[in-house]
Amino acid sequence: MEPLTPPETVIETAIRIDSHLGGAHERSLADDVLDGLTRPFKELPPKHFYDARGAELFDRICELPEYYPTRAERAILEERADELATLTNAAELVELGSGTAAKTRVLLDALHAAGTLTRYIPMDVTESMVRDCAEELTSEYPGLQVHGVIGDFERHLDHVPSAAGPRIVAFLGGTIGNFPPGSRRRVLREIARLLGPEDHLLMGTDLVKDRVALEAAYDDAQGVTAEFNRNVLRVLNRELGAEFDPEDFDHVALFDPQHEWIEMRLRARREHTTLVRDLDLPVHFRAGEELRTEISAKFTPERVESDLRAADLELVRWLTDPDELFALTLSRRISPETTL
Ligand code: SAH
Ligand code: TRP
Repeated sequence: MEPLTPPETVIETAIRIDSHLGGAHERSLADDVLDGLTRPFKELPPKHFYDARGAELFDRICELPEYYPTRAERAILEERADELATLTNAAELVELGSGTAAKTRVLLDALHAAGTLTRYIPMDVTESMVRDCAEELTSEYPGLQVHGVIGDFERHLDHVPSAAGPRIVAFLGGTIGNFPPGSRRRVLREIARLLGPEDHLLMGTDLVKDRVALEAAYDDAQGVTAEFNRNVLRVLNRELGAEFDPEDFDHVALFDPQHEWIEMRLRARREHTTLVRDLDLPVHFRAGEELRTEISAKFTPERVESDLRAADLELVRWLTDPDELFALTLSRRISPETTL
């Protein structure tokens, strides 16, 4: 008789986690703070929102009645995941900014049912999310390999393991919209370079719509988004010895119709100066002065397609929900023959 393998052993061998953060990430936070808080219009890049508390607050945002994008994207996946599985034949799913991979399970279910799925590769800056999700998914999908990459998708895409079969690279949740237009195209081009001839990019983008609905999604009645926004100050206090009092700031979320994006800001309630101790940096705020913490671009179909084109990607499927709130696009690299 074969010796029985204890289930713990199976789980152990199914998981591999690589971490690329460490000191470099702290330097990137320090650089971003020095650069962003000394500008005439202060700003911070959004990737610093997601420490463990930020990730938990984001999860709560996804459940809010006002925050429609998560429900709309999930509905599209539920409707179309089987078709995506058939179109892509994917053996591997790479996910950038994977978070808790809540919606990803819809896709994993379809690939698992199609019998093609072998490996899931989540990449996120938040270590705890990559580790927890690897544990959960290997027990939910027996036989699945999970190779987690703790890293920054702006700097560590070359650490994504090479493909062992056709792949879907998923970039969900409208995260691409959190980059300003120039960086957005740069990030997309770098992601496109991950794709081989058999691979596809599956990207979620929020669509332009009525201003009231948009602003409510980023300024909910319970104040969860406000807490999420202020959390970035707590990250600076902890990581860089800053002395922000989050209660000195109001949460502001406004739709900018000219740029077609939501801007999230923190507005100083009173004039004050905060010290960022580790950088020896005093930061002065006038009363009412705003610090921009995030943009969230809203797309038209034309804008998505032209961004994809600029990264040498061609649209394979445009998938949307019945109310056309959100879009998922499946695209692939334009092959050399097609560009001739
Ligand atoms: N994909 C999930 C989570 C979206 S929230 C969903 O659709 O619900 C954005 C996620 O991207 C967070 O988990 C955050 O930690 C991660 N993230 C943001 N910037 C990142 C970066 N530069 N590199 C890697 N992960 C990043
Ligand atoms: N990618 C999400 C979005 O743009 C991120 C997000 C949702 C977010 N709510 C937020 C970021 C509030 C900052 C503040 O919709």
